[in-house]
Amino acid sequence: MSDRKILVTSALPYANGPIHLGHLVEYIQTDIWVRFQKQRGNRCYFVCADDTHGTPIMLRADREGITPEQLIAKVGVEHLADFTEFGVAFDNYHSTHSPENQFFSELIYTRLRDAGHISSHTITQAYDPVKEMFLPDRFIVGDCPKCGAAKQYGDGCEVCGATYSPTELKNAVSAISGEKPIEKDSVHYFFNLADFTDMLTAWTNGGHLQAEVCNKLAEWLAGGLRQWDISRDAPYFGFEIPDAPGKYFYVWLDAPIGYMASFKNLCTKQALDFDEFWAQDSTAELYHFIGKDIIYFHALFWPAMLSGAGFRTPSAIFAHGFLTVNGEKMSKSRGTFITARTYLEHLNPEYLRYYFAAKLSAGVDDIDLNFDDFSQRVNSDLVGKVVNIASRCSGFISKRFANQLSADCAEPALFQDFVTAHTHIAEFYEHREFGKAMREIMALADKANQYIDDKKPWLVAKQDGMDTELQAICSMGINLFGLLVAYLKPVLPRLAQQAEQFLNAGELAWPSAAQPLLQHTINDFQPLMTRVDADKIAAIVEASKENLEKTAEIKPAASKKFAPIADTIGFDDFAKLDLRIAKILAAQHVEGSDKLLQLTVDIGDETRTIFSGIKSAYAPEDLIGKLTLVIANLAPRKMRFGTSEGMVLAAGPGDKEIWILSPEAGAVAGLQVK
Ligand code: MSP
Ligand code: ZN
Repeated sequence: MSDRKILVTSALPYANGPIHLGHLVEYIQTDIWVRFQKQRGNRCYFVCADDTHGTPIMLRADREGITPEQLIAKVGVEHLADFTEFGVAFDNYHSTHSPENQFFSELIYTRLRDAGHISSHTITQAYDPVKEMFLPDRFIVGDCPKCGAAKQYGDGCEVCGATYSPTELKNAVSAISGEKPIEKDSVHYFFNLADFTDMLTAWTNGGHLQAEVCNKLAEWLAGGLRQWDISRDAPYFGFEIPDAPGKYFYVWLDAPIGYMASFKNLCTKQALDFDEFWAQDSTAELYHFIGKDIIYFHALFWPAMLSGAGFRTPSAIFAHGFLTVNGEKMSKSRGTFITARTYLEHLNPEYLRYYFAAKLSAGVDDIDLNFDDFSQRVNSDLVGKVVNIASRCSGFISKRFANQLSADCAEPALFQDFVTAHTHIAEFYEHREFGKAMREIMALADKANQYIDDKKPWLVAKQDGMDTELQAICSMGINLFGLLVAYLKPVLPRLAQQAEQFLNAGELAWPSAAQPLLQHTINDFQPLMTRVDADKIAAIVEASKENLEKTAEIKPAASKKFAPIADTIGFDDFAKLDLRIAKILAAQHVEGSDKLLQLTVDIGDETRTIFSGIKSAYAPEDLIGKLTLVIANLAPRKMRFGTSEGMVLAAGPGDKEIWILSPEAGAVAGLQVK
């Protein structure tokens, strides 16, 4: 059929967290492209893996009291289950913590070293004397050297946006032990990226990158390429560097090599020829789908590493933009940081596949998931236009013609129009202009519906002697429906499968040479897709809200919600609470939180800082001078924004109705509840 041999990858998701809707932009985009290639008859392999190495994974395993191996095994299973339920069909899903990856990492490293592209020198870094490890920038916290904001990370300030090195932080402490870091020397290994300046200048201008990415690369190249630090000291979860005991490959060195490792693993399973895809003279196509945040690694380090180690370089890197939800960055407090699992518990994954397809282009623009737009597009396009054609026509075919389609095609020219459209639609898919492809397909769906509206089978059905016409109209509708589904198959594999069952004519091929089904028996129509239920969207948002006040939830008495009375406690337990009437001296917004206000309260003998989730009901300025009930002896709690030294008690069902005491309650000022 075709002699294209194509190897496709998506970026390897980190094994330290769940798959979320942002990730899915990429995996769904890649999966659609791969399914399209396969439907066209090309030999195409789609491989991926979990990215398992590095400090965060090591520390998380530590915290959970398990080994990193146990952690990555657990997460690997969860990731693959999420992908599979979203219809993302890898030919192989592997792990960077695999023998294949160790083999290729060592091979590439030793080849680079032997060719003189690796050097080593001593550098000074922050070191945690308690935990006995070097600290990555993200694991050092302190006060911003520029604006003084507390609790900022070692690489930059989230309040004023300044970037700096961790040594510039004031009052820096290790985020792991809380200890003040010391400075310590150690030998590091570096990849001499500058050796590849000419190679990269040619490669980045060689048609392998999108125009906007190419411009970014030109800037980086003009700024000069620096050596890349590829080693980390023990303790580190990764691969030890050959002939360098106690030194490990930095996670980003072995991560892209994971693409090769996963493919090698597939070669073993399916007896494929690895070299056919990776040798320097390979004629296969190699594509990496990635997010725009990791272009540097894929368009500079990776081609340089491959070329320096005697492998082929990628045919192209396809970068996409970031997902925003309702126009904003995904946020836990807004309930828009939605995991794949939470979505799957409520909604059909093919809704999201279609929505992303409708929004995706070949560029790096961010894409927005707007819930109203989401419901509206799915309902009007998929349910209202596509599925509707089959449901409008199948009833008559089943009741009046025993599921038999007509012997002749009613409108051969119309059918041919639909077939001819395949060239355009294929171009759009091939060039990742999925939004344009969806619009083209929906324009055809409009035509099909127009045809049925014109022919009015529901009226024809009431006339005597019009059976042949009725059967021909409905058969025509069903044949057009078959073509639409064939075009949508890369996006909606599950719907396509159900439609194939209904049409009873085998797998829907790419319609370049499609013929109408004539005198053919179909199966009974089963509903293919229902409308988006708005309640389900609300449930997803609710389930995704990080409950900042989870600890001691105070349940409203007069609430619609069922709030059981908790276990009774004895008077002694009650007496342990140090309840105080406190005066609010100051109140301010908390950067990055939708729920919390930071309060400074006077509890009589001292002032305290308390974070309280009452922002929905009070503006900071309205609180100053008011009185409120406070638990003064609650253990201080470290929150993302600072430490809360107590808890404010309030009444009311929540949202805008939260009542704290007010100065009118002057009568109780001075009251001591003890
Ligand atoms: N482990 C690295 C990739 C190594 S590839 C050799 C990594 N992992 S990640 O889990 O953070 O991201 C995986 C992919 O998902 C990346 O391509 C990243 O750009 C993409 N996305 C993560 N969050 C995203 C959004 N909010 N929106 C769109 N894509 C996003 O990076
Ligand atoms: Zn700052």
